[in-house]
Amino acid sequence: MLEDSYGRRFHYLRLSITEACNFRCQYCLPDGYDGPPNSAFLQLEEIQTLISAFAQMGTSKVRITGGEPSLRRDFCDVIAHAAATPGIERVATTSHGARLFKDGLRWADAGLDQVNISIDSLDPNQFASITGQDKLQQILKGIDLAVEAGIKVKINTVLLQDFNANRLNRFLAWLKKTPVTLRFIELMETGDHHEFFARQHVSGEPIRRKLIEEGWQPLLREKNAGPAQEYYHPDYAGRIGLIMPYSKDFCKSCNRLRVAANGKLHLCLFSEQGLDIRPYLAQGDVQGVKQFITEALSDKSVSHFLQEGKTGATRNLAMLGG
Ligand code: 5AD
Ligand code: SF4
Repeated sequence: MLEDSYGRRFHYLRLSITEACNFRCQYCLPDGYDGPPNSAFLQLEEIQTLISAFAQMGTSKVRITGGEPSLRRDFCDVIAHAAATPGIERVATTSHGARLFKDGLRWADAGLDQVNISIDSLDPNQFASITGQDKLQQILKGIDLAVEAGIKVKINTVLLQDFNANRLNRFLAWLKKTPVTLRFIELMETGDHHEFFARQHVSGEPIRRKLIEEGWQPLLREKNAGPAQEYYHPDYAGRIGLIMPYSKDFCKSCNRLRVAANGKLHLCLFSEQGLDIRPYLAQGDVQGVKQFITEALSDKSVSHFLQEGKTGATRNLAMLGG
């Protein structure tokens, strides 16, 4: 099992397969995507090599991210390869969800276990103004379908100052009957958006206090749990989680490594640079990938240092899939 010098173990790979996205989230790609085409990113054979190498080093969960991963024509093949790799027990994806209603069943057939969908507001107008796409209803229909198909659904909701009023109540009403886990994520500062961050960042702490006042109870954190603290309530079908990257000890539970769509290994979401493993991937060199990653891991730092405003080389999260 991959382990770093602080005793953290890494069983979870986040693999971005494209930087492209057709949404324009204000905190990510407000002017839309204007980068390389999908043909520039990791090809299916390279992806297979990568997942095999990680699986042989103890990775049991793969999340396919982007940009928007469903914009790749071979998205189902990527899912199927990941699901068929010995050692990989769970395949997840993070998506804006606009294609979920149309394609979700095919994703499930290919082997997808879990999907995380971004919904920053349940008000259709606010949703359109945050993402540049008036697709909330279509996404919600897709979520219902995914739940029925047995795909585990989580919702990512980025906390933003301008869209805070009343939002929690609307989400709570929805969660009464909808069996999904909604995670409020504190906005993180990225290289392209220092000013936006200064205007819009709010802490998740007031939400946490309100949930506790209303009888929500913290779930015991599983050994392999990620950074979210989750809460449940007997009167609600859904759960709520909080992801607070600015809180103390956030990085202590880090259990993931990232590979960007250009084949660079990122030891942290906010590292200064990616480490190029594409030459090994291009040659199908599973052994080379394993050796490189094992050695690189000894350099993983203890924290992201975001508190000090250090955003590393991460200009926006479409580069790396969050
Ligand atoms: N801070 C917090 N979350 C972000 N996301 C994208 N950019 C940021 C940011 N700067 C979220 C998206 C998506 C997930 C991959 O990360 O909303 O749900
Ligand atoms: Fe696209 Fe996700 Fe970035 Fe929004 S946050 S623009 S959906 S990559």
